Amino acid sequence: MENSIEYGKLFDMALSVASGAYAPYSKFHVGAALLLEDGSVVTGVNVENRSFGLTNCAERSAVFAAVSAGHRKFRAIAIATPDSAYPVSPCGACRQVLSEFMAPETPVVFGPDFARAVHSTVGELFPFDALHELAGN
Ligand code: THU
Repeated sequence: MENSIEYGKLFDMALSVASGAYAPYSKFHVGAALLLEDGSVVTGVNVENRSFGLTNCAERSAVFAAVSAGHRKFRAIAIATPDSAYPVSPCGACRQVLSEFMAPETPVVFGPDFARAVHSTVGELFPFDALHELAGN
């Protein structure tokens, strides 16, 4: 992927992995595609558990996989929720995790398909972040 981010391509990658989600309880499949600084992409899916609270969302799976592989800087993330009729935004826990590694202006694109996707940012979803915003003051 080049300098200008191709959100459609990134979203398609999120969509294509969503079918591999482990979601036997909710039946709600989610895929995430995280664009790294070097242009490569790390994907993730939601991984549920019979102890429901242990579920890991797709975007956290992608971030944790990328960080585990040694990456620390991310340019964008796309989240695909093909089982929904409208864009489902990241949960509060995921917003916190995204904010740990992504600057406020980092794009977050989410939707059931690319045509209906919402184009947001980490800062919009998680404002007044002490790590990135207030620390610079
Ligand atoms: N889920 C995600 O993976 N990401 C989101 O942004 C929204 C919710 C998952 C968690 C759970 O496995 C299922 O969707 C239903 O909430």
